[in-house]
Amino acid sequence: MKFYPLVFLTTAALLSITSCAPKPTLEVPEAYKKGQNAFHKICSNCHGSDGMGKQTQAPKLIDEEFLAPNYTDDDIRETILNGTNKMPPQKKNLTTEEITEIIKYLRYSQNAAGLEPEEEEEG
Ligand code: HEC
Repeated sequence: MKFYPLVFLTTAALLSITSCAPKPTLEVPEAYKKGQNAFHKICSNCHGSDGMGKQTQAPKLIDEEFLAPNYTDDDIRETILNGTNKMPPQKKNLTTEEITEIIKYLRYSQNAAGLEPEEEEEG
């Protein structure tokens, strides 16, 4: 399962070509396509292709920091709906169902990237 460098290189290469319209670079199973599409329509302008956050204003979401033990599905939903002081609320741009699909898609991507919860070190 050591495919990180390849994933990063592919992402970087694709980002440099398509930086104005971030597109997914990863194949996901059918069940996650809806979420992937919604993410790339609404979130990836800021969070980058595949939520990798490269050369973007917003953080990488495929990161230990946002795994379920640290950052729950409800936390993600809440952030999408109401934003933060730096992220504008997205509730006007998405249906409840799309938000659920985006969360599913993000969890799948975190898993596919081989991320594992870190020991509790930041609260
Ligand atoms: C207009 C740009 C923009 C869009 C669109 C956007 N975000 Fe964000 N997002 C940000 C920024 C900037 C931050 C960092 C906010 C902070 O540090 O307070 C952020 C932070 C986050 C966080 C972490 C919040 C935290 O507490 O640290 C999550 C999760 C997140 N975004 C998810 C999403 C999802 C999912 C979407 C699509 C539905 C989305 N964002 C759309 C700019 C954006």
